Amino acid sequence: MPDLAILGGPPVRTQPFPPWPQFGHPEEQLLLTALRSGQWGRTTGGLNEEFERRFAAYQQAAHAVTCVNGTVALELALRAAGIGPGDEVIVPSYTFIATASAALHLGAVPIFADINPDTYTLDPESAAAVISPRTRAIIPVHLAGGPAEMDALTTLAASHGLAMIEDAAQAHGAEWRGRRVGAIGDLGTFSFQSTKALTAGEGGAVLTNSQRRAETVWSLQNVGRVPGGEWYEHHRLGWNLRMTEFQAAILLAQLDRLDGQIALRGENAAHLDTLLGAVEGIESLAYPAQVTRHSRYLYIFRYRPAAFGGLPKPRFIETLVAEGIPAMPGYPPLHSMPAIVQALEARGIPIRAGSGAALHVTDRVWADEGVWLPQNVLLGSRKDLADVCRLGTDDDHAAGWNLSCWFWRQKGRCTRHPRSPLCEDAGPGGGWPARRPCAVRSLRS
Ligand SMILES: Cc1ncc(COP(=O)(O)O)c(C=O)c1O
Repeated sequence: MPDLAILGGPPVRTQPFPPWPQFGHPEEQLLLTALRSGQWGRTTGGLNEEFERRFAAYQQAAHAVTCVNGTVALELALRAAGIGPGDEVIVPSYTFIATASAALHLGAVPIFADINPDTYTLDPESAAAVISPRTRAIIPVHLAGGPAEMDALTTLAASHGLAMIEDAAQAHGAEWRGRRVGAIGDLGTFSFQSTKALTAGEGGAVLTNSQRRAETVWSLQNVGRVPGGEWYEHHRLGWNLRMTEFQAAILLAQLDRLDGQIALRGENAAHLDTLLGAVEGIESLAYPAQVTRHSRYLYIFRYRPAAFGGLPKPRFIETLVAEGIPAMPGYPPLHSMPAIVQALEARGIPIRAGSGAALHVTDRVWADEGVWLPQNVLLGSRKDLADVCRLGTDDDHAAGWNLSCWFWRQKGRCTRHPRSPLCEDAGPGGGWPARRPCAVRSLRS
């Protein structure tokens, strides 16, 4: 009988999932075109502008401005929205550090709100509870390609006169009520970093429907120059945050692949929802009908330790990883992240999260519940998906697969398949044979 891989048994998968990024002839051709043109920077080349036009149209925005990454895209958007020192910016605590550090870098104060337990995106009620007279902006994060609750958040922002900046770093092509994210609020930001669904290794963009804001962002990423101005004419203190023409070349080719990849990830995510739906103790996230297109950058599911004999989430993830399933624990809460706490303390600002209350959902999701799978798992075959789900289906148990048997043993139902070699080995009462370590006990230790 094979043991769990974490205990020295053979892993269920020895082959990796499909690689990311995916590329081919179009990327090579466009890169060569950029190379041979000798126009390697955007001050002379035209590929950034071409990508900005195409990406803005794709996201249904009037304007796009590229920049070096999604982190500075957030800061540029905040600056273009007029956010400055002392202003409060509401962000979810369950996000990448850049959502909050962008505010800190310009002297503003991130205020943390909780997330919706079904979607893991910013909870409008929790956001409303932390509004103060100093609140100036709100940053919903379209986590994993799943749009945040834009109706309630837009109403909230409008009723308090807050700027709305969408952090769409993970949500290229996603839609809320048929509208592409990033252009629903005042400004939207994207990342093209290596793991992202649209990537050039690094890169970022800011979207907006306001020409004035687009020009401000353009100026800030181009050392304070203004469109049509002279080379040494600087109207504000900006930075050189320009993306190269090589990055734009790759992005132009990658953009042509995006719809096909979103469709495949969507089909596979729906299939995974069905497969995991049969496993007690595993639940998919549940999105409202207004999410008309989820771009499935990540597949996130909820793990219930109680259904697995109390096995802690970190050990569950280690178990999956050992079997060749690239599960990840997701974001630790930002409201207890040392960099954030120290940055606020250095300015004498006590961390203010959830109106002083604990952010219960965020804390629980990190500690016990949220498990992530990267997008390349969703770019594979049905067989790849079946491997992910082999922790609780009758078929796999009958086939004698190890994690499956472990799962059924937890349910006290190992004897359902007495002819399975796993069950024959199981000994009286469905326990693990004495000569083997008990998988679950060892994992708990
Ligand atoms: C939600 C979110 N915001 C912002 C960023 C920052 O993007 P970048 O890594 O391009 O700076 C990321 C990227 O990891 C992200 O996932």
